[in-house]
Amino acid sequence: MSFPKLSFFQHSTWTLLLAHAARTTPLIPRECSTPTVALISPYESPDIGWTVRGSIAFAVDVKDIAAIQQVEFFVDDESIGTDLDYPRGILWNTRNLDLGSYTLRAVATNACGGYAAVSQDVTVAAALAKAEANGGSIYDTSITLGPDDTYYLSGTGGDNDAWFHNEGINLWKSTNLKTWSYVGLIWSFERDGYPDEKAWWWYKDVRLFRAVWAPEFQYINNNFYITYSLQSKGSKLLKCTTGKPEGPYEISGGKDVILFNNIDGGLFPSATDSRSGYLCYENGNIVKLNQGWNATTGTVTRTNVGDEGCFVFHWNNKYYLSVAKFMTVGGRYSSYLGIADYPTGPYSQFHEAIPCGGHNKLPTSWTSAVYCGERFGETIGQLPGESSRQL
Ligand SMILES: *[C@@H]1O[C@H](CO)[C@@H](O)[C@H](O)[C@H]1NC(C)=O
Repeated sequence: MSFPKLSFFQHSTWTLLLAHAARTTPLIPRECSTPTVALISPYESPDIGWTVRGSIAFAVDVKDIAAIQQVEFFVDDESIGTDLDYPRGILWNTRNLDLGSYTLRAVATNACGGYAAVSQDVTVAAALAKAEANGGSIYDTSITLGPDDTYYLSGTGGDNDAWFHNEGINLWKSTNLKTWSYVGLIWSFERDGYPDEKAWWWYKDVRLFRAVWAPEFQYINNNFYITYSLQSKGSKLLKCTTGKPEGPYEISGGKDVILFNNIDGGLFPSATDSRSGYLCYENGNIVKLNQGWNATTGTVTRTNVGDEGCFVFHWNNKYYLSVAKFMTVGGRYSSYLGIADYPTGPYSQFHEAIPCGGHNKLPTSWTSAVYCGERFGETIGQLPGESSRQL
């Protein structure tokens, strides 16, 4: 066979096509990898199995050598959303569904058309009391202002009896502190937890337990940090590895590094040198971080004024330390506040600053908003005029 009348260009095109056909058989479909998809939330718990309540992250972990284009989420074959970015998940609100069994399915598609799916049957049970419609319940709420003029919100999360069972750390964002959109499950036991974190443990010999408490998502020194408590297993510090709020994150100092053996930690930088970091935790304990922000250093200053949920912010040349305190008069779970000139104090002028404020964390200063409500039943509230309040 010959091509007597072909120009050089045409001839070389044919040669290339023939060479290509010989190399890749069959020519169509082209070779393409297949993603691997694993369900990371919901998860099977040893005591209640695949039962879910209220709102829960429906999230998967996807791995592939090709770029992932999207993950589409289905409930009983009906699409409920598509996620184009990491972390791969949506918030699934079961509150208006009939109770009973549903089949979840997530389909991941890569850039060359390869796809894979994972499915799982789950049982929807009645949402627990105090649940709210938009995005589920959040306790120990923490709001931070990101570099993109966007507020980010984290907390002890979920309607699935969050104090004992939750999927990890969820993140929401907002530009007006009123309407929030779901960013995703940015740290999960199933995807990110080390074996000792992932293993279920007993709470006071009564309940099986696997929950993150009081994750505080923060933006400091051009990066995102998250302090989180695993109750009796101690608290760790996550540091973002990508500069993006969605992560992924790694434990500062290495996988086994416990930052402190208590709960409710939050970081704050020195107002005069932002590279100097401090940690406050539980009922008003303050300690300096080392230069690498991977361990505490020096002695702990203890204010011993409240119950838990410590956080510190700087405003108008003063440090303000808030602890959540059960007020003996009135029974309110409030934000109790003291004022100091230096990060470790001494803090004085303690007073009930946000009645019913409980364990919250202000995003910037008094001028912003806070989650405020009854004991552990926080709803968002503004603090108008607090910036001009005489303290
Ligand atoms: C922890 O921080 C110190 C600096 O304070 C640094 O020398 C050390 O390498 C860090 N450790 C890890 C594991 O990153």
